[in-house]
Amino acid sequence: MKIMVVGGGGREHTIVKKLKESPKVDIIYALPGNGGIAAEAICVDIGAKDIPAIVDFAKQKAIDLAVVAPDDPLVLGAVDELEKAGIPCFGPNKSAAIIEGSKVFSKNFMKKYGIPTAKYEFFSDLEKALDYLNDCPYPTVIKADGLALGKGVIIAETAEEGKKALISIMQDKVFGESGNQVVIEEFLEGPEVSVLCFTDGKFISPMVSSMDHKRAHDNDEGPNTGGMGVIAPSPYYTDSIAKQCMEKIFLPTISAMKDENREFKGCLYFGLMLTKSGPKVIEYNCRFGDPETQAVLPLLESDLVDIMLSTREGRLAEQNISFKNAASCCLVMASGGYPEKYEKGKKISLPESLPEDTDIYFAGVKLSDGQLLTSGGRVLGITSVSNDLKSAIDAAYKTAENISFDGAFYRRDIGEKALKACNIGG
Ligand code: AMP
Ligand code: GLY
Repeated sequence: MKIMVVGGGGREHTIVKKLKESPKVDIIYALPGNGGIAAEAICVDIGAKDIPAIVDFAKQKAIDLAVVAPDDPLVLGAVDELEKAGIPCFGPNKSAAIIEGSKVFSKNFMKKYGIPTAKYEFFSDLEKALDYLNDCPYPTVIKADGLALGKGVIIAETAEEGKKALISIMQDKVFGESGNQVVIEEFLEGPEVSVLCFTDGKFISPMVSSMDHKRAHDNDEGPNTGGMGVIAPSPYYTDSIAKQCMEKIFLPTISAMKDENREFKGCLYFGLMLTKSGPKVIEYNCRFGDPETQAVLPLLESDLVDIMLSTREGRLAEQNISFKNAASCCLVMASGGYPEKYEKGKKISLPESLPEDTDIYFAGVKLSDGQLLTSGGRVLGITSVSNDLKSAIDAAYKTAENISFDGAFYRRDIGEKALKACNIGG
């Protein structure tokens, strides 16, 4: 089979590597891919949002399966255009991708169908939003309606902070059109869990749960990032919580999407807060998480090509989907200064070989005369898989000692909270 993966980060590298394990795969193209993915796939210089060029390329190569991984092309309708051109796709169409593309849609959707989430109000008028902040409880959470590169959520501790955020989103338009409307919602407390699920729109199959570390620095300090590390499975996600999530959140979500004529096929990501009053949805994503994928997919034992094809063809219920009974840790190495200003073009030095059960997934890197250079904020993720979480974490950190580039930094506490939770029984 000829496969095309749209995207060029650590998530896409992981997807490419897992797809390559399938005996059905002959060749993989990555659009645009990156300097690290180039070791596994043919990278083609077409941007992930350039839908006409993506469709032309897929037709020209007679692609058998297109995997559209990032949110932007999904929300823009890449799957609709590819399918129209006769290219089978993994991923939701535009009408289903709105579940991530618009917070106003997803919040109204959850309210309509009684899916547990934070209480909220939405505003398209700045004055009314500012007024609301005068007497709402704090902290309070402000979210731009549309996609905002994972930066559209502000947790305001005071009215003053909230007002500053509103002005930058709604008046100064720091996230462009995404800030035409905002959601202001209740602050939820509890452990946060990510659950990525395969679904064909009728049947839903949750993958191993995971725990992202979004803040830039140790002890969950510093600004929010795309994610600095992940462990899987999350010890907080017990069997009993998984059952509640299936009954109250996962199944109601896919059946409601069907009722809305927005049948969701692909990977649906539930960002959940396990609150004292039960699990609640913080956000839906219409795609695999990054870096969650780097910790979750290495545990998948089944053939990813088969699973992907069966989500499209509505045969997921017949599919064997199994995960290793093991733990994993993905540690992200970032450029100094990320998520704010950082330098690029630093030489990356790598070990000659990696221990068994450890892999590197490249994100912000490019190849220049055979040398890997940094080209983004999150440069790479080191994933180790082991029988227990502690050894997976130790192995990832050990490998990190042998990787370097100027200004490299990573959190020293990935998985620490999870280990504590394991010790007290979850
Ligand atoms: P999102 O982009 O919606 O995932 O939000 C980014 C991060 O903000 C989440 O991962 C949470 O840690 C935090 N967050 C979002 N919504 C809430 C909420 N209602 N209460 C508390 N934290 C939140
Ligand atoms: N790691 C968070 C996300 O993929 O949205």
